[in-house]
Amino acid sequence: MDLIIGKSQPIKQLKNLIRQVADTGLNVLVCGESGVGKEVVARSLHRQSARSSKPFIKVNCAALPSELLESELFGYEKGAFTGAAEAKPGKFELANKGAIFLDEIGDMSIALQAKLLQVLQDSEFCRVGGIKDIKVDVWIICATHHDLEVDIQKGKFREDLFYRINIIKIKVPPLRERKEDIPLLVDHFLEKYTAALNRRPSDIHLPQELFDTFFKYHWPGNVRELENYVQKILVLGDAQPVIEELEARSIQGVDAVRGEDHWNQEEFLLNSVIGGITNDLGNNFPSLKEIKKKAQAKVEKVVIEEALRRTAGNKRDAAKLLQISYKAILYKIRDYKINIEPEEFLNNSIRLTIPRH
Ligand SMILES: Nc1ncnc2c1ncn2[C@@H]1O[C@H](COP(=O)(O)OP(=O)(O)OP(=O)(O)O)[C@@H](O)[C@H]1O
Ligand SMILES: [Mg+2]
Repeated sequence: MDLIIGKSQPIKQLKNLIRQVADTGLNVLVCGESGVGKEVVARSLHRQSARSSKPFIKVNCAALPSELLESELFGYEKGAFTGAAEAKPGKFELANKGAIFLDEIGDMSIALQAKLLQVLQDSEFCRVGGIKDIKVDVWIICATHHDLEVDIQKGKFREDLFYRINIIKIKVPPLRERKEDIPLLVDHFLEKYTAALNRRPSDIHLPQELFDTFFKYHWPGNVRELENYVQKILVLGDAQPVIEELEARSIQGVDAVRGEDHWNQEEFLLNSVIGGITNDLGNNFPSLKEIKKKAQAKVEKVVIEEALRRTAGNKRDAAKLLQISYKAILYKIRDYKINIEPEEFLNNSIRLTIPRH
């Protein structure tokens, strides 16, 4: 069975890329927001590669303090530190001929990044407390939800290591950009959890209203969040509480976009609109009043279009998000000539991202 569920265009492209990359053995960096399925992609890469019968070893770089992570990755010799009664091989040795999945690589300490870089350059390393060089043949797949290029600017991530691990970059798209996969994913999770939670498939009826709500929601926690909601519905035996929760969260989400956390995106949006206006000025300098009117119209247009995308084109809901009346949104849609094609609701490019919860 395919590990990656979904038939949307972004998922088709993702699957193609995985197929192309799987046999190259080139180091891959999988990135994307929390819960999008980075680990699923890493496992899928391994499964489709010539190394599939060899180990896939996962290491969560965020879960351990630096020294422990070092001995976890590279192993240690007897007596290397207090408590090291026996020698122990590290994950790199266990992954020999297979793949190692370095999850949350962005959380690795700078000191350990240096050691990892050396391993990538030489394909060999020493166990902690050891002197013997150990040679390994390991395919390295890394994942992160950080923007490593920003981390490099801040001095938190080594640029040379970045270029080594980022030979192929696979970006897993957020769920809000492939909402048409939601029904397939729901089926998949229902199948996965009905038996585990002691429910019979015949006990479950998912109302259309639930799917309508799922389509409108912005999914800050991506596929993992959807999985959690399916489990919740199975446990409760009722979809209504989830529908209500998601509706409440949709409103909060838009409120949060107005909050401090997101001044950056707001600022960005405003700056780009202002830039557009000053570029349009030419030699005819208009009055401040005229500029104000023009700026307001530009900003309103962009924000209304975004609200419509977020609500799958439902004008009433969009009006609610914007806290204006239904009549007002209808006038504005007409005046600003807003015309969003239906496929844009599914394939939207979010300009104002909703913060994670
Ligand atoms: N396309 C998909 N098909 C089937 N299951 C998926 C898919 N994407 C994600 N999942 C499931 O959603 C959950 C989250 O996926 P995964 O752990 O791979 O995400 P992640 O990007 O690694 O998240 P995090 O950044 O939080 O570690 C898992 O239970 C996974 O099985
Ligand atoms: Mg993960």
